[in-house]
Amino acid sequence: MGHKVLTGLQWGDEGKGKITDLLAEKADVVVRFAGGNNAGHTVIVEEEKFELHLIPAGILYPEKYCLLGNGMVIDPFSLIEEMEGLEERGLKLDRLFISSQAHLVLPYHQLIDNLEENRKEGDKIGTTGRGIGPAYADKASRRGLRVGDLLKPLDFSRKLEKALNYHNQIIEKIYSAKPLEHSEVKDKVLALADKIKPHITNIPYLLADLDQQGKAIFFEGAQGTMLDLDHGTYPYVTSSNPAAGGVSSGTGMGPASLEDIIGVAKAYLTRVGKGPFPTELTDEVGHWLQERGNEFGVTTGRPRRCGWLDLPALRYAALINSTTEIALTKLDVLSGLEEIKVCTAYDIAGEKTAKFPDSWQLKEAQPIYKTLPGWEEDITGITSFKELPPIAQDYVNFIEEEIALEISLLSTGPERNQVIKR
Ligand code: GDP
Ligand code: IMO
Ligand code: MG
Repeated sequence: MGHKVLTGLQWGDEGKGKITDLLAEKADVVVRFAGGNNAGHTVIVEEEKFELHLIPAGILYPEKYCLLGNGMVIDPFSLIEEMEGLEERGLKLDRLFISSQAHLVLPYHQLIDNLEENRKEGDKIGTTGRGIGPAYADKASRRGLRVGDLLKPLDFSRKLEKALNYHNQIIEKIYSAKPLEHSEVKDKVLALADKIKPHITNIPYLLADLDQQGKAIFFEGAQGTMLDLDHGTYPYVTSSNPAAGGVSSGTGMGPASLEDIIGVAKAYLTRVGKGPFPTELTDEVGHWLQERGNEFGVTTGRPRRCGWLDLPALRYAALINSTTEIALTKLDVLSGLEEIKVCTAYDIAGEKTAKFPDSWQLKEAQPIYKTLPGWEEDITGITSFKELPPIAQDYVNFIEEEIALEISLLSTGPERNQVIKR
């Protein structure tokens, strides 16, 4: 059976939580495949707001399986906090399963992430400070501890000791900071193990079973394609593969099992953290978008940088993901602008290109804009395309033509039902 994948096509925060929540209604299983609690996915159901970091948005439905795949990095403290927060709100977590092979984000990862960012002067990445990069670095260096290690306390203790012997040297000698105590870290983490244990399993086998039973599986992306370690604006990226390719490596479900690849994009563009953003607006229009769009990070509360939609970047992201359809979000935020600009191409040293520039070309790349008229009317909550002001319809049709992909969902507000299905 062909399963659905949802990925962000920009620099994250496209509204993946909202669209996952909407589409998860028809799925039996919702799976996260990459990233960790650097993600912040907002879902608003009947005015109740949920902010999810590690647990898939499907958890808000009582009957869905929710899986955390091998490709994720999991901070046990953050996981427990999120689990308890959901339980306090009356949600049952008996269908939550966590990969034994996912890596653990441990206190030294978070410490090193922040020490490293503080050490950098002009070239900070602007990470979320959650230890994501150092945890993936340990995974690649084959020094990481995994969720399954929580099941064997003695092995956990031994592996932690080795990892700390290494990291404490770095903490002391490179950053001149205070090393962490093995027994303290071990006791704190193992104190959480009992609550996590019942959820730990082998995700590839569980997915294969669910697939055989004919269950509909939905893969919920985190971050965005322009933050992909291999395909994004390196080094201003995250340390995983949030694009659709990450589904197979991050869950064990091969590419042939995937059918619809839904890409989520905002009707304008935002980025939180540092790094190139050619269509960024640093003027009052950018500020206006930030206020109107409530563009403040869910995980860190940082203001998001705002700018015009970048079609070369969107076409590039769609290509990387083999995107089959688009969900365009936050169209309502644009209401009230006199005119809306869209970057349709780039000028690189006098040459025009419809492609997104490579990192080495970005400094000299100038966006080429098309200016479209804006609309006055508030469109919040509109559910039919025909009810949109004709100018807003033209904006959507223009994007659709430029990226040669169908915009099958148009979001007109943060709530589950504020959407146009086309
Ligand atoms: P994610 O990380 O991709 O899930 O996105 P975030 O939750 O970080 O940020 C998206 C924000 O936009 C959240 O506050 C959502 O509630 C909100 N949102 C999503 N879709 C829409 C929309 O169509 N209109 C408006 N106004 N807000 C939206
Ligand atoms: P969701 O799933 C937006 C950004 C950080 C930083 C870079 C590296 O909510 O869309 P990291 O902590 O991952 O090492 O930071 O990646 N970043 C995100 N930006 N949304 C996210 O997730 C992000 N996850 C990471 O701001 O620029
Ligand atoms: Mg987010």
